[in-house]
Amino acid sequence: MDGVPFEEEVVTEQPAPANPEGDEPIKQRKNGLYPGLSDELAENMKTGWADTELHDLQPVEQAPNTARRRAALSARFPGERLVIPAGNLKTRSNDTEYSFRASTEYVHLTGDRTQDGILVLEPTAAGHEATLYLLPRSDRENGEFWLDGQGELWVGRRHSLAEGEQLLGLPCKDVRTAACELEALGGPVRIVRGHDAGLEEALASSRGTSGTDADGDAAGDAERDEELRVFLSELRLVKDEFEIGQLQAAVDSTVRGFEDVVKILDKAEATSERYIEGTFFLRARVEGNDIGYGSICAAGPHATTLHWVRNDGPVRSGELLLLDAGVETHTLYTADVTRTLPVNGRFTELQRKIYDAVYEAQEAGIAAVKPGAKYRDFHDAAQRVLAGKLVEWGLVEGPVERVLELGLQRRWTLHGTGHMLGLDVHDCAVARTETYVEGTLEPGMCLTVEPGLYFQADDLTVPEEFRGIGVRIEDDILVTEGGNRNLSAALPRAADDVESWMARLKS
Ligand code: GLY
Ligand code: MN
Ligand code: MN
Repeated sequence: MDGVPFEEEVVTEQPAPANPEGDEPIKQRKNGLYPGLSDELAENMKTGWADTELHDLQPVEQAPNTARRRAALSARFPGERLVIPAGNLKTRSNDTEYSFRASTEYVHLTGDRTQDGILVLEPTAAGHEATLYLLPRSDRENGEFWLDGQGELWVGRRHSLAEGEQLLGLPCKDVRTAACELEALGGPVRIVRGHDAGLEEALASSRGTSGTDADGDAAGDAERDEELRVFLSELRLVKDEFEIGQLQAAVDSTVRGFEDVVKILDKAEATSERYIEGTFFLRARVEGNDIGYGSICAAGPHATTLHWVRNDGPVRSGELLLLDAGVETHTLYTADVTRTLPVNGRFTELQRKIYDAVYEAQEAGIAAVKPGAKYRDFHDAAQRVLAGKLVEWGLVEGPVERVLELGLQRRWTLHGTGHMLGLDVHDCAVARTETYVEGTLEPGMCLTVEPGLYFQADDLTVPEEFRGIGVRIEDDILVTEGGNRNLSAALPRAADDVESWMARLKS
């Protein structure tokens, strides 16, 4: 995979050609191993390439939606320059990089998903003018396209800036000029932090607040930047029709991924949880962009570890498999679904008792999802059911009211009952408490309802037979005008339905 473009005899060592856009030589491949590069070859590689410019491209489907979001952003921050970066590649080791995933804020506002992009909203008398700074096609004249590690010869063709304009409905400029232009402009600016350290540094110096030396107002800048991030998080609370369609597509692929897993449980028994992880990943990569988060493939007692992503344990008949996984679509919306399945297709009596309790709690939680309800209602409803079961089973002393007041059920329920879902699995995570956790549900919000009971293998306060059992059931619920819609209803939840569904798939 790696190496040099051509195997040939070395002529003389030459520096990489200069970039005509600036003084810097083009970025060399990180391994620095150029063969000797003859003038003849350098000249030869400049020409003889067809013009592949694409014309008459149709805008991406979500272009009108991204324009509406930018208009809302513009209205919130009049007179201020706003900078929303996609982020950059991160090195995995030496000259290999992690696969790139653009920042959620950038994707939501542009529909673009490519590395290094920067959306800039420049204030005007009428509001803001939006410009998208992107990596253009690789230059052939200076050799970039075949000598740079991110040259198109290595990583594939990119859209030209003109193509980007057609697709995204935004004027596009070369991103390599962005930092200089923004530095030169000065004036009030806000940037979404955490995605593009180089750009943040460039802006800090133009703001006069670089490093820790607060000649300007570094703390004030940080606060203003955070206001931008919070606003964009809240802008995603209510999903539009395009987003709902994407979430449904993500869930539909996820359903197929769960079916794939049931069909190969015998192979997982012969190997490990990794077989499950790999099977689901195949579906995610073939139908979508990726998995939306690390798949939790937790068999037996691993189900009691909330974020079990090592997935290297055995899968045994007679035990439960907790599978928490979601496909991310090409537009980067993700599902987040959990089913807890008996590996051999039949729940034991005790497994079913615990499963039914979680199912009942989930039913109560889902019933509490409706417009006008407080966000916390579904959590409270589910927790009340689970606390009641724990009291009934003699694991904690009642009454239920006391248990809830003291939060004693949490030894076994462990986590909140759900969260917003969208481009991020834990979407809208920096929305203010008053708009999210203490807010009110509205049509278009999409959230998970995912109660669970987890009895750790070393929990001496529960009967021995409970130890090592973990159950979670998680569905993706859309708030509608009339109540809610379970986007993941195609996956059975009731214990009997799970058993007959598994029997059908395994036969
Ligand atoms: N998959 C992580 C969660 O359910 O929140
Ligand atoms: Mn979840
Ligand atoms: Mn989950």
